Amino acid sequence: MNHDTLKQAVARAAVDHLVPGAVVGVGSGSTVGFFIAELGRIRDRVAGAVSSSEKSSELLRAQGIRVLTIDEAGPIPVYVDGADEIDPGLRMIKGGGGALTREKIVAAAADRFVCIVDASKQVPVLGRFPLPLEVIPMAQGLVARWFAQMGGDARPRAGYLTDNGNPILDVHGLRIDDPVGLETELNQWPGVVTVGLFARRGADLVLVADPAGVRTQTR
Ligand code: A5P
Repeated sequence: MNHDTLKQAVARAAVDHLVPGAVVGVGSGSTVGFFIAELGRIRDRVAGAVSSSEKSSELLRAQGIRVLTIDEAGPIPVYVDGADEIDPGLRMIKGGGGALTREKIVAAAADRFVCIVDASKQVPVLGRFPLPLEVIPMAQGLVARWFAQMGGDARPRAGYLTDNGNPILDVHGLRIDDPVGLETELNQWPGVVTVGLFARRGADLVLVADPAGVRTQTR
């Protein structure tokens, strides 16, 4: 069974966790791409979507779903997004697709975070996937030097700027034993816009697809 089949299965399962007639928060990435296609099939039951990237907005509009700002939306009962890694405490690394800042904002605006992944994203400890950070351009070198002092290798994502016009650093070589502590610390670093650790506000529910089916896990 290939990854796309698993992503499609988990995207379909996420529909059961939506509130009919409500606005839905929508993440970014290839798994979410399948979820947006599912939303298109039930568009009559979706009041609109708050999107976390220009790419997702484009896909949503192509499915005939209205894209709303957070201020237009009112309550967002559920936010659905993928992850690059997720640990048993439902803490995540996100931002492989570069949309981490808007993802964190929409997740924070929603009541419930439903994470959709295939089983390859489950890890015992976060950190094998390089940790993405969106940074202000002038701080990029400085932030990279601070990571070097703690054993991390921060590499600028070549040829890439976020939807907000900022560069991304991908930090290799971190073993993240305390995701909440590290997220809290990195949030204080001058020049860091967003750290791709979603630990302080992790997922509330994860749907995991493997060849045997889709499993549900809560915190
Ligand atoms: C986008 O910025 C990310 O946070 C995605 O949620 C994450 O990279 C998962 O993407 P895939 O579904 O493509 O693996």
